[in-house]
Amino acid sequence: MTQLPIPIPDPITSAANAEVKFLRSLHERKYRKKSGWFLAEGTRICREAVALGWDLHRLAFLAGRESDAVMAPILAGLAASGGRALPVTEALLQRISRKDNPQILLGAFAQRWHDLQSVTLQTDKVWVALDRVRDPGNLGTVMRTADAVGAAGIILVGDCTDPFSVEAVRASMGAVFNVQIVACSEAEFMAFGAIWPGRIIGTALPAAVDYRSADYDGPLVMLMGNEQSGLSKPLIDLCHQLIKIPMLGRSDSLNLAVATGVALYTALDKRR
Ligand SMILES: C[S@@+](CC[C@H](N)C(=O)[O-])C[C@H]1O[C@@H](n2cnc3c(N)ncnc32)[C@H](O)[C@@H]1O
Repeated sequence: MTQLPIPIPDPITSAANAEVKFLRSLHERKYRKKSGWFLAEGTRICREAVALGWDLHRLAFLAGRESDAVMAPILAGLAASGGRALPVTEALLQRISRKDNPQILLGAFAQRWHDLQSVTLQTDKVWVALDRVRDPGNLGTVMRTADAVGAAGIILVGDCTDPFSVEAVRASMGAVFNVQIVACSEAEFMAFGAIWPGRIIGTALPAAVDYRSADYDGPLVMLMGNEQSGLSKPLIDLCHQLIKIPMLGRSDSLNLAVATGVALYTALDKRR
């Protein structure tokens, strides 16, 4: 029998187990904040995260599956981070994932946050800035889209939903592990905007410039507004250009993540 990279203890069968309770608590923002950890579900995402060098601290998996070939790199990553393997019953996997049909494993990874300093260092890149994004599904989809266009990362401006929530991580389809996440206040973003050497292009419904005729060259921050109220007045004033995507039907706006996709792919297409 092949040697596993980490000792596997006896299966956990009780919902009162402290590790199970702790992993389940990571669905709540206050416990993610306290621990600095977050949950990601599924072998593909956990394998990719480990390959990208993310620290895996706990791995809850269906007892008996530790010798599956797909588990080997994940268990190796767990061992490298000094983490713990937690074989559990299917009922406990459901409890931890809060889903009826969970995948065979969930990992608890350490969150990674960056500050605006990392943005100034990478001036050749495209960044996506989100003003007070509230919906975790939107944020996850924006992370997935930013990853797809090769953007450097996401700047969360003001009071935003947590990019490490289970819903946002799920919607990102693993992109959360491949885009830098920067968080700042509106005041910090205003100060950053004053020294940013490239363009800040805002997307807004009252804008005069059609998104197809904007100039996307050079270092670029694509700034997207809040789902209900759009961009704040100070952020609108900070933009070098405001663009709009025509609305030809009865709806007055696009979904935030859809608008981000249209704007980013247009920028990708038009950048020299
Ligand atoms: C759901 S919309 C916000 C609608 C909000 N009622 C408003 O007045 O801005 C969320 C964000 O997506 C972007 N967006 C949506 N539709 C757009 C469009 N047609 N043109 C430009 N940006 C758009 C903007 O950044 C907007 O702030």
